[in-house]
Amino acid sequence: MSVVRFSISLEEELLRELDQFAKDNSFANRSQALRNLIEKNIVEKKWHCNNVVAGAIVMIYDHHKKDILTKLNKLQHDNHEVILSSQHYHLSHDICLEIIAVKGLAKKLTDLSEKLISIKGVRHGKLLMSKTD
Ligand code: NI
Repeated sequence: MSVVRFSISLEEELLRELDQFAKDNSFANRSQALRNLIEKNIVEKKWHCNNVVAGAIVMIYDHHKKDILTKLNKLQHDNHEVILSSQHYHLSHDICLEIIAVKGLAKKLTDLSEKLISIKGVRHGKLLMSKTD
């Protein structure tokens, strides 16, 4: 594959962050770091498709937040066909860690995780997906 050179304009702050990202991840240069970021982003976009994938939704939340457990529970029941299992850990008096194993159309898993993670009281959430074939 031929390599094309082009120039880009970036704010100084963003360039510093790019250099830091390259350093933190041991990339040889900015091109390599940018290539990685672009590929990662485009691959993630491709996940918004009709491929069947498997993965996990990992969430950290405060179970005291009003209605959070009801909302989390309802969403999971509404999507039971893509949920394989879930594990709940009480990390402290307030904070819970929940790991939901999922399998289904990437688009559906992405939608479900976005809905779960956007519930008020969810402090952190991430969906990890992988091809199953
Ligand atoms: Ni808990």
